Amino acid sequence: MHRAIYPGSFDPLTNGHLDIIVRAATIVDELIVAVVHNPNKHPLFTLEEREAMLGESLAGLNNVKTAHFSGLLVDFVKEMDASIIVRGLRAVSDFEIEFQMALVNKKLAPGVETMFLMTTAEHAFLSSSSIKEIASLGGDISDFVPPVVKARLLERYKVKK
Ligand code: PNS
Repeated sequence: MHRAIYPGSFDPLTNGHLDIIVRAATIVDELIVAVVHNPNKHPLFTLEEREAMLGESLAGLNNVKTAHFSGLLVDFVKEMDASIIVRGLRAVSDFEIEFQMALVNKKLAPGVETMFLMTTAEHAFLSSSSIKEIASLGGDISDFVPPVVKARLLERYKVKK
């Protein structure tokens, strides 16, 4: 039984994340998509909002659950009785930081493997930051995020204007 954790900020979830989730879910038995609480960051959406958007967008995937965590990722992986960390790679620029994180996590928890999935070409340019910027400037984000995320982003920026 392979249980994996796909950790991230998901501020907010993008179609690129969704693509990784759907593909990882066909490889592992159970996938837990875990939203990080990082007290040093100031996300646009609260932890609860980010996890709720994930829950709504992943409703049809039977072996995928959502969760949230704070502290060390490897501690959460062990707490969940999982053995795999899933991360997506978009470009060479992602590789350096992801390689470093994978090595740190391997040192902290030798029994935990990091599994990288390459993004599909159509999602290679997507990032939560650029999508937030486009939405805040009134651009069309329909192709970049699930419908529930689009609705929340439009709501959020209308409120902020
Ligand atoms: O979506 P992100 O922001 O690229 O995700 C980064 C994340 C959540 C994977 C990373 O920040 C993380 O693992 N945070 C938990 C703290 C931790 O375990 N740090 C040590 C590993 S470098």
